[in-house]
Amino acid sequence: MQIPHVPVLLEEVLKSFKDVDTGYFVDCTLGYAGHSSEMLKQYTHLKHIGIDRDDEALIFSKQRLEPFTKRSTLYKGTFATVFPLLQERPIMAVLADFGVSSLQLDKKQRGFSFHSDTLDMRMDATASLSAYQVVNEYPQDKLEYIFDAYGEVRLYKALARAVIESRAIAPIQSAKELSEIAKSVIPAGGKIHPATLMFQGIRIEVNNELGEIEGLLDALEKQHHKNEVVSLISFHSLEDRLVKNRFKKWSSACICDALVMRCTCGKNHAIGKAFSSKPTTATKEELHLNPRSRSAKLRSFRFNKDA
Ligand SMILES: C[S@@+](CC[C@H](N)C(=O)[O-])C[C@H]1O[C@@H](n2cnc3c(N)ncnc32)[C@H](O)[C@@H]1O
Repeated sequence: MQIPHVPVLLEEVLKSFKDVDTGYFVDCTLGYAGHSSEMLKQYTHLKHIGIDRDDEALIFSKQRLEPFTKRSTLYKGTFATVFPLLQERPIMAVLADFGVSSLQLDKKQRGFSFHSDTLDMRMDATASLSAYQVVNEYPQDKLEYIFDAYGEVRLYKALARAVIESRAIAPIQSAKELSEIAKSVIPAGGKIHPATLMFQGIRIEVNNELGEIEGLLDALEKQHHKNEVVSLISFHSLEDRLVKNRFKKWSSACICDALVMRCTCGKNHAIGKAFSSKPTTATKEELHLNPRSRSAKLRSFRFNKDA
């Protein structure tokens, strides 16, 4: 079986769950089961639940996890929808490795890469919104918002204008065509391809990626188990900021308004502790073996013993 995706920060993820001695491990972004298969191998006392919105990933992982079927259940769906439905179970470990898999990126038909002949970018190929609609049907102000807020493209207005002008001549049919438009607006020569941030913005919109992360964090905030450990891997600053801020909120003893002079809340509101204020990043060895790990940031949090 050829494995199409190398899991990032694998040792670090395994280590973050080393004290979890019972219950369920939920992998919210199962992908090709790189993390899940190692977790199942090493932590034989844990039951496993894998969630993914991509049928291709689920079919592959079902086969890969065949030796563990007695301990493992897979669900299709988005983690913000599926995870809250599972929380009645004794979930003690939660992993999410946000973003797209290498297979999704590399497979031209999926429309994530600059060279794709399609304009798709849906992680769930059955979802209704695709990049084609975003690019060809969204009004200029909405495109500007996506390029600015989700892509952090400096020339977001000019880029939105160029898209509108191009599609007025004929619909934009492919990622290849779209990346040519980006090249015509954004000067080449930077560290990244001129279309990278634009593609990031569209991908986030198509897959509601930030809304999904917020949904998972909301579910965990509302309901969690004593000592439950959560490990989240992000790949860009918008994702990492959501995780970092939420962990900070959960670790804060004081919930008084920042403007009040004296604390009146009793200073006992922390619901747990982050493992560290700094994220864990890839070692030199991992960077060398898997360049995709260069932007990965892992943050872990443990809920209180008396949650
Ligand atoms: C980076 S890959 C995970 C790779 C996995 N850790 C492995 O080792 O094979 C991310 C996976 O999460 C899925 N995914 C991303 N966002 C999701 C969401 N909100 N709900 C469900 N699945 C999601 C993608 O379809 C993709 O397969």
